Amino acid sequence: MLNSSLSVTRSHSLPSTPTLSPLSSTSFPSLSSPSPSSVSCLLPSSSSFSKKLTSLSSLSVSQLAPPNDPRKQRSLKVKCSQREPLKVMISGAPASGKGTQCEMISQKFGLVHISTGDLLRAEVSAGTDIGNKAKEYMNSGHLVPDEIVTSMVTARLSLKDAKEKGWLLDGYPRSLAQAKSLEKLKIRPDVYIMLDVPDEILIDRCVGRRLDPLTGRIYHEKNFPPETEEIKARLVTRPDDTEEKVKARLQIYKQNSEAVLPIYLDILRKVDGNRMKEVVFNEIDLLLSYVLNEKEKAAKSELSTKTTTSQANMVSSSKDNWRGIPTRLNNIPHSREIREYFYDDVLQAIQRAVNNGKTRLKVEINIPELNPEMDVYRIGTLMELVRVLALSFADDGKRIKVCVQGSMGEGALAGMPLQLAGSRTILEYMDWGDDGALGTFVKIGAIGAKEVEEQDDMFILVAPQNAVGNCIIGDLKAMTDAAGSRPVILINPRLKDVPGSSGIMQTMGRQQRLEYAASFEICYLFRLLYYAGTQYPIMAALRMTYPYPYELYKRVDEAPGKEKYVLLTTFEERPSGDEINNAFEGKPRIQEKKPLGIWGFLSGIL
Ligand code: AP5
Repeated sequence: MLNSSLSVTRSHSLPSTPTLSPLSSTSFPSLSSPSPSSVSCLLPSSSSFSKKLTSLSSLSVSQLAPPNDPRKQRSLKVKCSQREPLKVMISGAPASGKGTQCEMISQKFGLVHISTGDLLRAEVSAGTDIGNKAKEYMNSGHLVPDEIVTSMVTARLSLKDAKEKGWLLDGYPRSLAQAKSLEKLKIRPDVYIMLDVPDEILIDRCVGRRLDPLTGRIYHEKNFPPETEEIKARLVTRPDDTEEKVKARLQIYKQNSEAVLPIYLDILRKVDGNRMKEVVFNEIDLLLSYVLNEKEKAAKSELSTKTTTSQANMVSSSKDNWRGIPTRLNNIPHSREIREYFYDDVLQAIQRAVNNGKTRLKVEINIPELNPEMDVYRIGTLMELVRVLALSFADDGKRIKVCVQGSMGEGALAGMPLQLAGSRTILEYMDWGDDGALGTFVKIGAIGAKEVEEQDDMFILVAPQNAVGNCIIGDLKAMTDAAGSRPVILINPRLKDVPGSSGIMQTMGRQQRLEYAASFEICYLFRLLYYAGTQYPIMAALRMTYPYPYELYKRVDEAPGKEKYVLLTTFEERPSGDEINNAFEGKPRIQEKKPLGIWGFLSGIL
């Protein structure tokens, strides 16, 4: 139950990384229980705390000192609402595909699409004063006077939705005077996209263009015919789409665009618009994702300057020079920037999914520090991720229950998966900020129906998993049933059947359990891909953030000692190992030869 009356704005600190902390080297003695997990980052140092953690091995102290601990390091604030929205201008000759691309961009990035052409056409069809004045100019292919268009655009830009969601300005500014008006108002985009298409193509596109007056969708009688006869019957042609008028519009466009370009030269990105619309969009999508990422990094570093000077110095000195997907992911421990990138990536995906009404979600993030198959696995990183998620939702006034499965089995067989050993205790002693988040907006509990309370708004379940002889799914199902329509988010679940010594696990209710496990929708996935049977070097990465497609990136070495991730392709559905292999090698895979190729080992886990 999302409690809207609790819409309290709060801010929380994201503690610093153990690797950056001067205290990070302090170690607790190694203890008897063998654990693959290197527990770090989250522990207080006092002996009373350390006694409570005697089942943990190789512990190191760092940022998650208890509240009021003077060693506690304050750092970045996690506050989702402060994210600066994207501002984009798109320009190009008549029929270069601005409207077509804007439809896809605004759908993906949630920007408010402001098209001066559409605004003017709406005025014309409503028969307003503006429309009556504009009509003549438009029909002859001339520009409508600046004062009419500028006041329309600035009024639209000042509305709440454009300010909050960001905007995509299409067809404005079209003259130097218009560009100057925006500059005066300090309205400037993050990027100025120019679609480049040869003249002869433009004329054909205009003449063949058809519009659906009902949905506003743009069709082309040959390139993009309507899906049904019903749509076809209602399509209309724009009065300015005759060959003669298009030529005049083209001429006017050329004269004016030259005057506008110098103003945006520093943020100008030319995109070849003479390709399939999906290909054009792919390039724009990459560009905008990059710009967005850069903006977020800039915003974060602005926030981090508010931290202590020493912290700021450490942050900048450790800053790796990556763009988009962080590089050097095989370097352990992951730098603070890398961890923050992923926490934020996961957070945004969950937020989008929850905002879209999704209630059964799972996150699968397998960077080395979060991959329990690797000996560099760190439970501290998992806990830190969970804390960022919980506090960010708490910032929005939600009450979050963070749940770790309890001990399973009975008597001498009681125990829990190694990956989770001690995690509940760690969660309880983490620094949840000074403002009393823990116990009010954030509560810690176990997995099970009785943990679900009336006031809980959502549940974050930390790595729920089956263990030998025990299946968590019964408790999980009871809990989700009790949660009803409230979001339940599984972080790195492992819900495949694990064989028990008696063989019971594989048989009893297996099918139902697997179906239940599959009923959670992936809202975030990040997985590094390696050669079969190895964990080095990283060859590629697969990423999915709700609601976008799966993206396959190839890791490319750049001399000297640098690397980057290049987008190879996207998949609407989660790809199989073979599909990844095909995309990676750029050729179809010979069916009989699988699974010995470089992705052979992936077929089991993807
Ligand atoms: P406006 O509506 O903005 O017209 P425009 O700039 O001429 O652009 P278009 O809408 O014609 O084309 P588009 O680039 O959006 O292409 P589309 O995606 O539709 O302005 C109209 C008039 O309003 C102006 O002439 C002026 O009078 C006035 N006006 C507007 N803004 C003004 C301002 N700021 N100041 C003063 N006056 C202003 O695609 C075209 C066709 O191609 C479609 O059929 C589509 O299906 C097809 N197509 C798209 N992409 C592809 C592709 N990749 N491959 C093949 N076909 C494609």
